[in-house]
Amino acid sequence: MSSEPKKSHYQNRLNDLSNHDWLLFQKSWFVHNPPRRKKGVLAHPAKFPETLVREFVEFFTKEGQWVLDPMVGTGSTCLACLQCGRNSVGVDLMEKYLRIAQEWVDSYRVDHPTEVEARLIAADSRELSKLDLPEFDYCITSPPYWDMLKMRGFETQKKRRESDELDLNYSDDERDVGNLEDYNRFLEELVAIYREVHEVLKPRGYLTVIVKNVKKAGKHYPLAWDLGRRLGEFFALKDEKIWLQDNQKLAPYGMGNAWVSNTMHHYCLQFRKE
Ligand SMILES: C[S@@+](CC[C@H](N)C(=O)[O-])C[C@H]1O[C@@H](n2cnc3c(N)ncnc32)[C@H](O)[C@@H]1O
Repeated sequence: MSSEPKKSHYQNRLNDLSNHDWLLFQKSWFVHNPPRRKKGVLAHPAKFPETLVREFVEFFTKEGQWVLDPMVGTGSTCLACLQCGRNSVGVDLMEKYLRIAQEWVDSYRVDHPTEVEARLIAADSRELSKLDLPEFDYCITSPPYWDMLKMRGFETQKKRRESDELDLNYSDDERDVGNLEDYNRFLEELVAIYREVHEVLKPRGYLTVIVKNVKKAGKHYPLAWDLGRRLGEFFALKDEKIWLQDNQKLAPYGMGNAWVSNTMHHYCLQFRKE
């Protein structure tokens, strides 16, 4: 007796990935060593690699959908979206970074003509919902890690201090949340940005926040955990993927005296608008 082949009712509503690629992304950690940065985007002190952004965008959206980055800096998110056929909007306070982003997007389009949109907007993201924006399927972003860029000895600051072309911090603009000295105030202003993201995101749309816990003057500030708790009040906090960097020099902080880690991991926190 022959039996009818079973019909599969499986429908992938979230993305265009194969089951195999879906499964690979589900691992809760990954190693990603950023490729060398191109000359123009080096000016920005804390850019995330577009290769990394693209993996998240391809998991959390389908082709043709809309992606937002409310602190887009030099435009990694928009470039990653162009590369994989997603429309994007990148917002940042700083026109100087948006100019670099625009050059980057324009030069990509010369070699890869596409109808896909990549809009760059200069604005304060605490006012996102006042802008004329589409409804977004997904948001990925990395905020300033508090005012860490102003700390002596922070990562590559020495090399940056010696150069005229490389910025030491994003700006001196008082609307720049990375300029707020008070940790709790900084946290609240960031939360205000993510409340606006919540407004412009579709129901069941995901938000990924890439962030680190930070140390300042010998004290540990659990920025990633604090954001998980605070944003979890209006988004559903799903979990984290941990981004490990394995190509950085180790520094002998506290050697022979006290425990101070070399922090080489970032949290990629996943939230969903329910
Ligand atoms: C960590 S950087 C983002 C880098 C970006 N992911 C990239 O790859 O270039 C944080 C950005 O937040 C921006 N920013 C700070 N306060 C802001 C605000 N209130 N509204 C919009 N952007 C802001 C800064 O200008 C800076 O470019």
